[in-house]
Amino acid sequence: MSAEIKVKRQSSRKRSRDRRISHLTPARKRTSASGRQCPDNTGQIELSRALDQSMDAKFSEYCSDPEDLFGDYDSIESDSSFLAKLDRVGQNMRQHDIEHTTSSRCPVILLAGNPDFTSLKSSTDNCPKQSMTESFLKGFTDDAFLDMPSSQLAFLQDPQTADRNCCTDEDKTSMPMRHPEKSVSTEDRNERHIAPKARKSVSDHLKRAMMANAATPSSVSRTALQKEAVVTEEISVAMQAMESVSMATTDLGPFFGLPTKVKELICNLKGIKDLYEWQKTCLNLDSVQQRRNLIYSLPTSGGKTLVAEILILKELLCRKKDALFILPYVSLVQEKVRGLASFGLELDFMVEEYAGSKGRFPPVKGRGKRSLYIATIEKAHGLVNSLIETNRLDNVGLVVVDELHMLGDGSRGAIIEMTLAKVLYISKSTQIIGMSATLGNLQDIQKFLKAESYTNDFRPVELKEYVKLKDSIYEVDPKEEECFRFSRVLNFKYSSAMQKIDQDHIVALVTEVIPSQSCLVFCPTKKNCENVAGMICKYLKEDFIQHKQAEKAVLLGELRGSGNGSLCPVLKKTVPYGLAYHHSGLTSEERKLVEEAYSAGVLCLLTCTSTLAAGINLPARRVILRSPYVAADFLKRSQYKQMVGRAGRAGIDTHGESILILQDKDKVLVKKLLSAPMEICISNLMHSDGKGVLSLILSVIGLNITNSLEQIRDFMSGTLLSVQEKQVCLERSLWEVTQECVELLKEKGLVTVSTEPQDGSLQVTKLGRATYKGSVDLTYCDLLYRDLSKGLESLMLNSFLHLIYLVTPYDMVSQCKPDWMVYFRQFTMLSAAEQKMCAAVGVSESFVARKAAGQNVKKNVDQVVVSRLYLALVLQSLLKETDLWSVADRFQLSRGFIQTLLSSSSVFCSCVLHFTEELEEFWPFKALLTELTRRLTYCVQAELIPLMEVAGVMERRAKLLYNAGYKTLAHLANADPNVLAKTVENLFKKQANQIVASAKMLLNEKADALQEEMDDLLMMPLDLLSL
Ligand SMILES: Nc1ncnc2c1ncn2[C@@H]1O[C@H](COP(=O)(O)OP(=O)(O)OP(=O)(O)O)[C@@H](O)[C@H]1O
Ligand SMILES: [Mg+2]
Repeated sequence: MSAEIKVKRQSSRKRSRDRRISHLTPARKRTSASGRQCPDNTGQIELSRALDQSMDAKFSEYCSDPEDLFGDYDSIESDSSFLAKLDRVGQNMRQHDIEHTTSSRCPVILLAGNPDFTSLKSSTDNCPKQSMTESFLKGFTDDAFLDMPSSQLAFLQDPQTADRNCCTDEDKTSMPMRHPEKSVSTEDRNERHIAPKARKSVSDHLKRAMMANAATPSSVSRTALQKEAVVTEEISVAMQAMESVSMATTDLGPFFGLPTKVKELICNLKGIKDLYEWQKTCLNLDSVQQRRNLIYSLPTSGGKTLVAEILILKELLCRKKDALFILPYVSLVQEKVRGLASFGLELDFMVEEYAGSKGRFPPVKGRGKRSLYIATIEKAHGLVNSLIETNRLDNVGLVVVDELHMLGDGSRGAIIEMTLAKVLYISKSTQIIGMSATLGNLQDIQKFLKAESYTNDFRPVELKEYVKLKDSIYEVDPKEEECFRFSRVLNFKYSSAMQKIDQDHIVALVTEVIPSQSCLVFCPTKKNCENVAGMICKYLKEDFIQHKQAEKAVLLGELRGSGNGSLCPVLKKTVPYGLAYHHSGLTSEERKLVEEAYSAGVLCLLTCTSTLAAGINLPARRVILRSPYVAADFLKRSQYKQMVGRAGRAGIDTHGESILILQDKDKVLVKKLLSAPMEICISNLMHSDGKGVLSLILSVIGLNITNSLEQIRDFMSGTLLSVQEKQVCLERSLWEVTQECVELLKEKGLVTVSTEPQDGSLQVTKLGRATYKGSVDLTYCDLLYRDLSKGLESLMLNSFLHLIYLVTPYDMVSQCKPDWMVYFRQFTMLSAAEQKMCAAVGVSESFVARKAAGQNVKKNVDQVVVSRLYLALVLQSLLKETDLWSVADRFQLSRGFIQTLLSSSSVFCSCVLHFTEELEEFWPFKALLTELTRRLTYCVQAELIPLMEVAGVMERRAKLLYNAGYKTLAHLANADPNVLAKTVENLFKKQANQIVASAKMLLNEKADALQEEMDDLLMMPLDLLSL
């Protein structure tokens, strides 16, 4: 063992001397490889530079996590309570529920008057017992000092390296109660209503069965027929009202052009009884009534979403058109799907999730039912492409983009721009609505979207901004010359030891509000989040442990259950005090549990990275910005606004407050930050040496939107890049850039000129089509092609490893350096066939053994292949064991990284699947990758997958549901939420409602897909010959 450790140390020293090579240098690889159909690329230098840049960016260990980093991570903050409505429980009952929720989320009311928490432990006598302090600090090492602001360097050690002795606490996933009789009766019911497996005769029987499936909500809802009749009537009244609306009148009918039923649902499902004045004004705007494009901009928490949702409902119900709602994160998409599924069931439209690897291209036609597609940025682009390809984009009447300022956010901004430019160019009747709290250059965006704008300063809860400098708190007032107005001296009494450790007085600041009120502490790095949470606990009184003790014990049990018995050592120590950290290093399940507990008031404080500011809605009474930095970068105005905007909980607080902790050295910069205008939003099509322009041109040619240079020029004139040409295209005009890109695409073999006489039009090659259809990064497309071709020559199928290797994302490779000892150990455990496959891709056992022994290996080995195979080994272990924690432990990687790797791989796997579908020679991959995508997406035992397809059901809950007898989607769709909540451990009624509603929706969607297939099959061919 000790020898092993010694070797390992040698190798890690060796490793640290190895300079990281600029990986995946396509130029070098292309010239050395066989090439196949991929032509050489003269533009490769630019692209490879682009690639290196994007990889360097990915090296960041910090908190600005890109989309899909959290994969299926989902959040709990949601606003629907479907059961109460579905079952027609009376208004009083609903009111009771709402009150209950509010009170449980309102620790202020519950705990007001508890004096124990308000006084800060300010002297040594008040300090916690030394033993506790010591034991707590044991887990922290010096590493943590590296990422701390200078004033915090005193107290930290690294929790990552803390003993994982908690893993030995064998507390397996808690098994739920089983109610056999109930399960049986549920199954019986399903058999009667759905009977999807009964396949006795041919089409008639099949059709009837599927009709029953498709009509699930009707068959399970007791008053379904009546409901349907009422809604239909209301909608037709509303439609009439809408038709009668002349351009000049504002008489919109019952509820902004919608049936009163919608108003009731908003009240019942969201608890919103009346709209804010600005919301009414906005909905009554001429531009809205006449369906012109609109951008509206209001401060955070202003209630922007509700306006968008009302407009979406109008589109679906009154105009009978589909709608696309684009949100920036997987978690937000899932939250919206869960929240709006109940609306869909009540008002008879489909709600479809497009996130991660979920979502069908092109979408199912829906047999007359309208669809609301809720999509991440990347998925929305794929969806719009597929609708253009099938000539169905006109069916989408409305596109809503939340957080529109993300247009300026790197490659994701470029994808939003491409999507909107295509919609604008192709479907003139599609309305575009964008919303944001932080748009600095509204005019540019307006010009791009040909939109009108609406702005308002409304905020339901007043926000007071402060900064803390030394011992004093100053109110922020940009109008004052000094920018800060003295407010008060911070009241704290620290011992000298404490003063040394908490130089910024974070403990004093947070104990002014917790535990009776909630607090968010934004920290510059992930590690700092953990350290600050630990440090605060160290100085909290024992009274904090007593507060909500039982609920915190349940939370700890659930966290342990989610880790199959493993519990994060930091959370283990902080949760009893009501504190937790929250960043991308947590697993999806941990994040969900932490959010849930914070919303319910079980946790009163979260230390978090900026990720939380842009994601879910978890407001706090007080928001503290631990320093004006995100990682090593000074805060941007928009980041600051997003973070402080979390302060003040609507309906609970009368005001919210933010405190930015600053040091003297940052004073000038902070003043600038506080008085500066919002950052402007710049087109990102030129990002990474014009990668956006390249892929936009490729797809517009591929989709037959344009096929001549002139048409491309015309298309490009409708982009944000064109609006900002003078700012962005400094060296060459947009026209020159466009021409160069077309040439580059030709050189890369992605675009060609038609050989038909007198034609000369531009066309995509097969590789080009595969690239844009698979949303494959242009940097990797020929590398991917080569790897897949080589794979086909000797595809090993008696293990997953080879396939996994082929779909391990290239852009994750640079984020992980192999631990050679681990690599070697894993390698030796592979079967002979697997080892042969490894050698065939370029990684031999002797190479890994030498590296593990710390020897210098002179042989020229492709580092990318070596690292990619290492990640493939991680993924293979995950698929085998489905235990994220133990895999993280074995490979000495953080569980957050493993989670990210898994979700990125599932997304990339579905991209590779679409890529191979376009290339005949790759036909065998289709079936293989379809299944692999499914496995990577869920990574659980096969029997849990149908349950996890439902938005919001994660592994732990799926296990509980399965053990309680809810084994299939049909079980969930037909479940009585009351029974579900009682049967399944720690499942609130509200969550049970959402699960049932989402399951019904998914069942409908699947039935519709089958129905569409059947309709196509049974349709009489139009060109049938007759006598
Ligand atoms: N008319 C209303 N009455 C009461 N509450 C409302 C109303 N409209 C919206 N809300 C609630 O206000 C909260 C914040 O709304 P929302 O999430 O739409 O804010 P936002 O403007 O999108 O903010 P951000 O920029 O932070 O995303 C939500 O919980 C929402 O349910
Ligand atoms: Mg919002």
